[in-house]
Amino acid sequence: MEMKRIETRAAWKGSEVDYRTQMMHRFVDDEVAEIDAALKVCGERDIAQITRESFPLPTMGATLSRLQDELLDGTGVVLMRGFPRERYSSDEMARIYVGLGVHLGRPVAQSWFGQLLGSVIDISDIVEKVRGYNAGGGQHFHIDTSACDIVSLMCLRRAQSGGASRIVSLSAIHNTMLETRPDLLEVLYRGYYNHHHEMDAKYAVTPPLSANRIPVITQTDGRLTGVIDSGNLRYAVQMAGITWSAEEIAAYDELQRLAKSEEYFLDMNFEEGDIQFLNNRCIMHARTDYDDYPEVSRRRHLLRLWLRVDAWPQRLAEQLFLTDADTTNWLKNRRPFMELPSRYIAEMTATQEKRRRENSLLTPEVTSSKYPSAKGWQEERDRRKAG
Ligand SMILES: [Fe+2]
Repeated sequence: MEMKRIETRAAWKGSEVDYRTQMMHRFVDDEVAEIDAALKVCGERDIAQITRESFPLPTMGATLSRLQDELLDGTGVVLMRGFPRERYSSDEMARIYVGLGVHLGRPVAQSWFGQLLGSVIDISDIVEKVRGYNAGGGQHFHIDTSACDIVSLMCLRRAQSGGASRIVSLSAIHNTMLETRPDLLEVLYRGYYNHHHEMDAKYAVTPPLSANRIPVITQTDGRLTGVIDSGNLRYAVQMAGITWSAEEIAAYDELQRLAKSEEYFLDMNFEEGDIQFLNNRCIMHARTDYDDYPEVSRRRHLLRLWLRVDAWPQRLAEQLFLTDADTTNWLKNRRPFMELPSRYIAEMTATQEKRRRENSLLTPEVTSSKYPSAKGWQEERDRRKAG
């Protein structure tokens, strides 16, 4: 594939962008009223039952379709701000969020247990072996699975301090590497083997290890598409024994180094009620470290949607790892109403209290700082094998 410079607005640098003026949509009163009316139509429906018909937005539709275009062919980032969070319960906010989401895409399951709406909250002291979105601390830059076109967050509750969403344009990094390190960029176009999370794989229909290298970057019609899930890359090394060449390590590390430099990333601070939509094909995300409260009911709590947009050009087959068939299969494990924040927080609070009584709260390990270089993945694997 020819490595061409991306000449569109998708190639922005964080240091040159003001998201408040260039990426933000502020809710106006009429929109809030329309959403409020839609919530009444929606009623107490389960998350899976929320559709464009059961959450009707007759006049806001045009705005949402403009925002959807902005995600595909603009900066790839939209922040919706100014929704009156304080007027609604957490469960109402969840339904409103999904109601807006279904007008942009089709929600897909986010893990083997089939949740259509994820809770991004630190429960690593309560639940064993949590994934990145259920652990605190910072994160490496990544793109969520290839089954999702738009990744989105809604802020229900802010952290005590910190916890900004840190995002970066893969197109901008691509353009720089094309000038400075075309040799390493070529490695990214060639890609790496990917491996599913153990439990995800158990309920997926595709094999756990990709048959070929999945390109980190492809481009078609002037648009760049990326797949870079640090977890899936690490599992391939640690669970399937894939070994990376020095060049492959250098390419991954260079991508992370550029993403982490102030010139490129953009920090977006969330206010309660904010909704962020990212093009999950070309915007990488991470987050900054943060301080949280001890009680799980007061902790930073975001809701997450993975949306598929069937109307967008399909991803290239060679870049599909987790597929629509996999996430559809995960839905078999879904239980009705399981995503509602009130239910989720009540469950976590009960578990936390039980662990406290039994003195069995867990001490989580922080994986992002544990692996400053991709080299660390295989070093750890080899150490384990030897010892
Ligand atoms: Fe993510």
